[in-house]
Amino acid sequence: MTTSLPRIFSGVQPTGNLHLGNYLGALRNWVKLQHDHECLFCVVDQHAITTWQDPAELHRATLEVAAAMVACGIDAGKHIVFNQSAVPGHAQLAWIFNCVARIGWMNRMTQFKDKAGKDRENASLGLLAYPSLMAADILVYRATHVPVGDDQKQHLELTRDIAAKFNNDFSARIGDLGLGVEMQAGDETVNGFFPLTEPLIDGPATRVMSLRDGTKKMSKSDPSDLSRINLTDDEDAISKKIRKAKTDPEPLPSGLDGLKGRPEAENLVGIYAALAGISRERVMAEFGGQQFSVFKPALADLAVEKLAPIAAEMRRISDDRAYVDAVLRDGGERAGAIAERTMKDVREIIGLLGD
Ligand code: TRP
Repeated sequence: MTTSLPRIFSGVQPTGNLHLGNYLGALRNWVKLQHDHECLFCVVDQHAITTWQDPAELHRATLEVAAAMVACGIDAGKHIVFNQSAVPGHAQLAWIFNCVARIGWMNRMTQFKDKAGKDRENASLGLLAYPSLMAADILVYRATHVPVGDDQKQHLELTRDIAAKFNNDFSARIGDLGLGVEMQAGDETVNGFFPLTEPLIDGPATRVMSLRDGTKKMSKSDPSDLSRINLTDDEDAISKKIRKAKTDPEPLPSGLDGLKGRPEAENLVGIYAALAGISRERVMAEFGGQQFSVFKPALADLAVEKLAPIAAEMRRISDDRAYVDAVLRDGGERAGAIAERTMKDVREIIGLLGD
């Protein structure tokens, strides 16, 4: 009875400014995926509050991320762009998954360990349950594929564990109600309600590192604005940041091996390759043996060419508040209709009276 069309869900947190890492690592791939999938792209505002967020800033960033999705080329008419808190089904299903998942599963999550740090007892309960809400985001739409970076693979495995345990705990009831679909679970064919969602990792992930320190990920929380290229940066800011990017004194090597132990060179070559849509080998073939004084201006030109139009579009869209509101309202309504159908079935499967 369920749709077997590949359905994509992905989310991004509205915390801080979007930057080149978000673009090359996520948004750009989403734009490609929309051609042959049905897609939902969500600004996960309820995930953001698992750590403290200033309310006015959370509000601003939520609108900015929605504007960025559209500015990067996501078709909000054909697909669904919305914010998580607009659809109650996410939190409702997350609660149910909190009762399906085990505390031990959550305790093993490396993102929780990193974010909670030494003082785990003092982390929010929401931070521990974060993956349960993420599973709900995906499964309330019964999404089959999720484009994610490497750092989210563990959460996606947990999403499958939750789906499998739900399908198994309630298998008799799912069968009686005729709500199951046949699916492959390892070697077995099982009749389940929730799909076992697969990650979609687009080739070798483009990990964009800080422009000030090639060993650290480009991050919205880095105090130095020179460490990242924001998606709202204008031409001057983009070129200036690339000109000032940290490098080493050697010329560029002519092969990939020569990048070992040179994180800043490796990062800039990776950024060039990703923006130009060519392999790093080709970048090396073109610039090997040249100084950074030659490579950086070429990279700056390329970055301006690819990113400045997005920044201009973001400014244009962000200034049209009524438009962004309309995109989110419409997306929220369409997402809400799908989520509510799932929740109705879920309540029936579990035996909750509901409304
Ligand atoms: N946890 C993801 C991140 O920090 C964001 C996210 C929330 C997400 N829900 C999701 C990503 C569902 C993919 C699917 O990047």
